[in-house]
Amino acid sequence: MQIAIDGPASAGKSTIAKLIAKKLDFVYCDTGAMYRTVTLLAKKNNVGYGETLDILKLMSEHKIYFSNKSDGQHVYLDDEDVSDAIRTEEITNNVSQVSAIKEVRAKLVKMQRDMAGDTDIVMDGRDIGTTVLPNADVKIFLIASVEVRAQRRFKENLERGIKTPLKELQDEIAARDYKDSHREISPLKKADDAIEVDSSNMTIEEVVKRVTELVNEHK
Ligand code: C5P
Repeated sequence: MQIAIDGPASAGKSTIAKLIAKKLDFVYCDTGAMYRTVTLLAKKNNVGYGETLDILKLMSEHKIYFSNKSDGQHVYLDDEDVSDAIRTEEITNNVSQVSAIKEVRAKLVKMQRDMAGDTDIVMDGRDIGTTVLPNADVKIFLIASVEVRAQRRFKENLERGIKTPLKELQDEIAARDYKDSHREISPLKKADDAIEVDSSNMTIEEVVKRVTELVNEHK
């Protein structure tokens, strides 16, 4: 069974996807982490975020993969655990430029499809239901208002000791949504057969319950 969870930035996709994967004992794939790792790879090598050929060369020379640890899924770039390094403001604010490159998407989509293979999987991202797994059994389009998403990010940041003004987070989220929705290749878009879940006024438990109901309806 394949479960696709798409939606805009900070809508809670990965939180929900992880919990659903754990509950059902499915593999989890965070495709955003893959685009973030390519962005980090460019940064580490002083390659501009729009330099297609240089980025593709780096991608062919380096390995991006996931490994499951007791505290959850970690992302690796070669031998380095980059799970935290891909969450900095620098990467967050530039990933949309890298993810708009057609050839980068082609390589990562192939890796994502290979990961899905014929295993039970929960995959989250922007184009899973439309492009990566168009035949997914259950497709969720998870949304929340920009205000709510910025508030959630603000709280998460505080827990990590980062104090970014709420307005700045709101602008950053809106800008990233705009870029992700307006790019030429596989823009962020609800698949025709996806079910929209608006989590603005829902707790995490309520969203997990709703998604579980949708999965059970499909079984
Ligand atoms: O999900 P997350 O916010 O970590 O994704 C980071 C970025 O990666 C998104 O803003 C988007 O530019 C890109 N992305 C994408 N397609 C996906 C997943 C993420 O273009 N399937």
